[in-house]
Amino acid sequence: MSATSLATSLRTHPCGALRVEHVGQRVRLGGWVHRARDLGGLVFVDLRDRAGLVQVSFNPATSSADVCALAASLGAETVVLVEGTVVGRPQAMTNADMLTGAIEVHATALRIVGPAVTPAIPVARSKGEPLPAEELRLKFRHLDLRREELQRNIMLRHRLLQRTRRFLSDGGFLEVETPILTKPTPEGARDYLVPSRVHAGEFYALPQSPQIYKQLLMVAGYDRYFQLARCFRDEDLRADRQPEFTQIDIEASFVGQEDVIDFAEELIRALWIEGESTVPAGRIRRMAYADALERYGIDRPALRFGLEVEDVSEVFRGSEFPFTSAALAAGGRVRGIRVPGGATLSRKQLDEIDALAKGAGARGLLRIKRLNGVLDGAVGKVLDDASSAPLGLGEGDLGLYVAAEDHVSSPALDRVRQDVAQRMGLVPAAVNAFVWITDFPMFERDAASGALAAVHHPFTAPHPADVALLAREPWKARALAYDLVLNGTELGGGSIRISDPAVQAQIFTLLGIDDATAQMRFGFLLEGLRAGAPPHGGIAFGFDRIAMLLAGATSLREVIAFPKTTAARALFEGAPAVVPQGDLRDLHIQLES
Ligand code: AMO
Repeated sequence: MSATSLATSLRTHPCGALRVEHVGQRVRLGGWVHRARDLGGLVFVDLRDRAGLVQVSFNPATSSADVCALAASLGAETVVLVEGTVVGRPQAMTNADMLTGAIEVHATALRIVGPAVTPAIPVARSKGEPLPAEELRLKFRHLDLRREELQRNIMLRHRLLQRTRRFLSDGGFLEVETPILTKPTPEGARDYLVPSRVHAGEFYALPQSPQIYKQLLMVAGYDRYFQLARCFRDEDLRADRQPEFTQIDIEASFVGQEDVIDFAEELIRALWIEGESTVPAGRIRRMAYADALERYGIDRPALRFGLEVEDVSEVFRGSEFPFTSAALAAGGRVRGIRVPGGATLSRKQLDEIDALAKGAGARGLLRIKRLNGVLDGAVGKVLDDASSAPLGLGEGDLGLYVAAEDHVSSPALDRVRQDVAQRMGLVPAAVNAFVWITDFPMFERDAASGALAAVHHPFTAPHPADVALLAREPWKARALAYDLVLNGTELGGGSIRISDPAVQAQIFTLLGIDDATAQMRFGFLLEGLRAGAPPHGGIAFGFDRIAMLLAGATSLREVIAFPKTTAARALFEGAPAVVPQGDLRDLHIQLES
């Protein structure tokens, strides 16, 4: 086997690589029987490998009777070796849908090397035939992985991985592997724990991210680091979350926020080119966290469409309208979106949208349609034309409003906005609306207890302009943290880190982490910071999410070879699994019955 050619001792070419220039050549191929058609003596087999499909014909005029009979018996997914000659197809027989459609292989020899049982799910599908249920596809993953779309995605993933490595390595970043058996990390999700056999009652944690290690590498002078890091988080799963996933993890020394954003943007551009998509020319736009929440209700706004959230409190202030007056009196606001032409939405559709708002915590939506020059329903009786003018509702428009405190209305309006955009056909498929969200708050405050928690993680540096706030009103302080968002998906996030041990100690105090706990949990980072730490910062991108978006897929499972279900199960292998009592005893574990 040569490293520079795909030929081996068993095959001369990959099936899908044959073209007109090979006509006349004797070839040996190996592959899977995608489809076989027996036209009464003449047998056509579509032979498939990673490179694609090629048509192989077995003709009694050119192949022996034995070979033809064997070909006629071939079942789907059998692995065969074929020998034959490449011939051009007559014009009328060419198949423009196949890359190999201008040729076929006239076989003279055939050997079955991998007999196959009837596949549990079909690999070959006719046009428009629906996919088998996802549960079956995940159970028989070895078959599903043979499907062209998945093969394309996995190959794209490979190219993106290689591009990332090349880009970062060329930029002077060193690829360093960090441990998988670690101490708990502070990313906020639950850890996957691994019991120690040697040390009874003690556990390793699988890393949620290499955060502390990459900071220690900066302390150790490694200057520019990257890793295609496998991370593990035991959290509620969604289509864009897996319990184990891959980050493009990056850290650099002697940098500020702008430096990190600069090279992160360059990396994203390179990856989008590799994925045959585009990042709009010029710098990626920026939006402050507070602005994103005010205008879109969320810190990862989808900017492919309008429907911006507006504050219309003043329209309702002073009116006795029950839906709004209680919320306004309690210090809330009336915020909502104006849907041009939205009056066409039916009552049933509006009820569904209302249910979404309620599901997100709101008491309900105030819906106002403007039809025939007047506002419909109860609101029309309360508001006249002049007082409702600031709502900006034109003929045929719909206004959808939530009257509540911002922490209630924001998530509800985000849901409503996204849903209405879909329903009204306002989401352009081909637009990549990237945005950097900056100026995150350092802390979020628990409404009941007043306790502070880190919004990013406890090693994030405060914004220099807000350092004084830490002593007075720390919940108002902004962080040097940034997220990259594309069409409503968070692609990555990072921050400039605290490199001064005194500031780190102050942040721990604010987070209610006492010295002993800080020492126990993050002692080795604190020692590092005390040992001479350069200013440093970085970012981590969700690699699977990038691959998913560039593959045009809607689930991470479409770009991960062996993914878990949303219930964190690996159906193909049956993990997690019960283990024998003896194994548990060795690990000093006793199960509650
Ligand atoms: P963060 O927790 O924001 O930051 O993670 C970075 C990126 O990783 C991706 N991601 C996930 N992808 C798939 N499945 C998941 N369960 C999942 N969780 C996160 C997201 C996210 O933007 N150490 C910091 C980074 C830093 O500060 O440098 C960190 O891990 O795309």
